[in-house]
Amino acid sequence: MCGIIGYNGKENAIPILIEGLKSLEYRGYDSSGIAYFTNNKIKIFKEQGRIEELEKILVSDDTNIGIGHTRWATHGRPNNINAHPHKVGNVTLVHNGIIENYHELKEELLKKGYTFKSETDTEVAAALVDDLIKTKENIISGLAKLKNILKGSYAFAILFDFDPDNIYALRYGSPLIVAESSIGNFIASDIPAILKYTKNYYLIDDSIAVITKDKIKFYLNNQEIHKEKLTFNHDIMSATKGGYSHFMLKEINEEPELVDKYLKYYLNNLELIPSISKYKKIYIVACGSAYHASLIGSYLIEKYLNIETKVELASEFRYKKNFLKKDDLVILVSQSGETADTIASLRLAKETTKTLGIVNVVGSTIARESQEVIYINAGCEIAVATTKAFTLQVLTFSMLIYKELLKIDPELSKEVLNDYNKLSQEIRKLINIDYKDIVNKISKHKDVFFIGRLIDYYLALEGSLKLKEISYIHSETYAAGELKHGTISLIEENTPVISVLTDKSIYEKTISNIKETKARGAYSLVIKRECLNIASDVYDDLIEIPDLSDLTTCVLSVIPMQLLAYYVALNLGYDIDKPRNLAKSVTVE
Ligand code: M6R
Repeated sequence: MCGIIGYNGKENAIPILIEGLKSLEYRGYDSSGIAYFTNNKIKIFKEQGRIEELEKILVSDDTNIGIGHTRWATHGRPNNINAHPHKVGNVTLVHNGIIENYHELKEELLKKGYTFKSETDTEVAAALVDDLIKTKENIISGLAKLKNILKGSYAFAILFDFDPDNIYALRYGSPLIVAESSIGNFIASDIPAILKYTKNYYLIDDSIAVITKDKIKFYLNNQEIHKEKLTFNHDIMSATKGGYSHFMLKEINEEPELVDKYLKYYLNNLELIPSISKYKKIYIVACGSAYHASLIGSYLIEKYLNIETKVELASEFRYKKNFLKKDDLVILVSQSGETADTIASLRLAKETTKTLGIVNVVGSTIARESQEVIYINAGCEIAVATTKAFTLQVLTFSMLIYKELLKIDPELSKEVLNDYNKLSQEIRKLINIDYKDIVNKISKHKDVFFIGRLIDYYLALEGSLKLKEISYIHSETYAAGELKHGTISLIEENTPVISVLTDKSIYEKTISNIKETKARGAYSLVIKRECLNIASDVYDDLIEIPDLSDLTTCVLSVIPMQLLAYYVALNLGYDIDKPRNLAKSVTVE
């Protein structure tokens, strides 16, 4: 979703803002723009399309202070007029989020004589700030009023005509950090934008940040406050491609090492994994791939711990009747920790029950607001299509169960521990398989089907999402037993059917379903656990997953599907790290 950058320092701001915007590209956008002070006057440039289009219209200017934005359209089409920054009166502003009551605010501001050029909620916010703040002395108290007026979510970076020395920043529900460096000070939506200059940053939280050339000040309730400096502890390489052609491929290749580090860390610090056996019922709430990881988690929790576990889409859960009880647990799973629907579900759950966040981004909203948190420690995940975070989310569920097995089934826990030690090397083997032939076969098709039962169905859901989001091949997943209830009518000569077979208890049933599709001409790719016997007429191509215990095999099975999706998209020549219409972090509902 939208990305914000701001710089105030000794260097020329234009190249720094452009570079910052490029490092936020992965968030997804369809237009971009910058605004800066030069000779105490504001200049604004904005353009539809890639940042390269914006670069074409820039001029060279002497400037050390400015703000920039990549826009992912929500209100109004992606065009130059709707692109940010927006200037109204004395206020120039960029915004990430959605102002839900912008209609009412616009009506009031129109009555006061304001006029609007764009269709955006952001221009309304700029007019509102202009209406509230007329002098430099009133800036902090005026900005503090926004909290009670605006509904929805926002992160703003603001320049005032009458204060050419400072940038102002505030947020509610949308991410924004500030950072000090030796060349000047920054505002950014995310850490990769500042990593070239510094690893230290501050969270703005509820405060208003004032970014001067050599200092960052924070105000809460009109008083200056002190904030703790945080340090980004991951390798800077985790925010760059490090020699790989795409972030997605790099992130898949990081999985063995990350899994290794994760296991070493948490096996030595098991007290950081909360015990879940005391809960009567567990809810797991998430979106997208995190939802798929949750389905896998719930299946395993029910199987091994006998705790009823319900998985909910955050975008549904927050609006439907809930039956939460005070001795239930709600687990929120999110890579970014900033997904709007998951945050709303967390806040709702907290009214009644205990919450546990499974999160990647340190200090993100879900990490901070959940009563307990497990960090998956995946480092920066830049590619829109999640890979390493998904794998570590599944591993986290495995670890939650492992911790209980130590008490209830020591024998099994030994077996799992033994297999944890093999995990990273097995992932590496799966990464090194030659997928070329299969990729060529799948790339030719417009429709692909994924099937599986129980846990294999949930894994197939993730495989299918990976493929469709970056290759644009239409792909559907069916619980294999459902094929006969309608979908099988779609199978034609050579339609690819990708089947996941890892669950020993049910795979034979899935084999019957595969045969039904083969009988209708389907091309069958089977991804199966090594130990499962299947006849050679069930598949045209076969990928085998090493046979480890259930609690480790679940981590392995998705890897070939991540790679298939990657190589198919590569074969088709698509922009793998930035698929159309998608954003890395979905900060609006
Ligand atoms: O940051 P989150 O884990 O909360 O994001 C949830 C989904 O938007 C995300 O998993 C999405 O489905 C993936 N980018 C798909 O690869």
